[in-house]
Amino acid sequence: MSGKSYTFSHAISLQPAHSITQGLRAVDIGMPDLAVFKQHHADYVAALRSTGAHVELLDALEDYPDSVFVEDAALCLPEGAIVMRPGAPSRLGEAATMAPTLAKFYDDIRTIDAPDFIEGGDILTTEREILVGTSARTTSGGIEALRRTTADWGYTVREVATPEGVLHFKTDCSLLDEDTILSTKRLAVSGCFEGYKVLNTAEGEEACANTIRFNELVIMPAGFPKTAEMLDKAGYNVREVGNSEAAKLDGGMSCLSLRFSPPSA
Ligand code: GLY
Repeated sequence: MSGKSYTFSHAISLQPAHSITQGLRAVDIGMPDLAVFKQHHADYVAALRSTGAHVELLDALEDYPDSVFVEDAALCLPEGAIVMRPGAPSRLGEAATMAPTLAKFYDDIRTIDAPDFIEGGDILTTEREILVGTSARTTSGGIEALRRTTADWGYTVREVATPEGVLHFKTDCSLLDEDTILSTKRLAVSGCFEGYKVLNTAEGEEACANTIRFNELVIMPAGFPKTAEMLDKAGYNVREVGNSEAAKLDGGMSCLSLRFSPPSA
């Protein structure tokens, strides 16, 4: 089926917790405001739902400050789901909490086991392959474990590199359609998207590279007018959502949901 990498019947999101104030961040650019975060999160979930998708909205997990970034906990494919093994020690236990929710939608749930590490934010699933960036959170061993885990489902897993100092591979790129990737220039110059059409984020707007194609929408963080205009002119249906608080914790549009079409849908 064409478009399976961005056409979804379901998503899972998880409410921001009071403990987001203790969330991980590379640089301190201010304390996230929970009330504003909750409003942005509600707008984000509304955008997903506006496409007709079912969004399973989970309660906040106070023990895991970064758990709102639910994408890192699992990879959901049409054939089954895989519980990740986050490389951030404070997030290691978080992934297992996702298993009961995944079990509502999937019979086949697999796990990435010790000693390997991999986070969903480093995984870009396209129509033809799964690209995974090594990063401070994802090891080559984790990528090899994902390759083994998805081999019988017929996937090709390709190891690529996340730019130095960038949290996740998808901090710097997004899938826009079967053939097109939105990317920062610093990532695209690595050559990892050879064979794809690449649209670069506008100069100074690198922080909007983490955008998602979700059904008919391209959902991007608000405040990046040049890139939004470029995507609009390219024919994409752009929806902007506030992301100022998640950004204080290095989070973006992809981090806030797991997007999938379960086998029974
Ligand atoms: N604050 C998101 C993360 O570091 O995983």
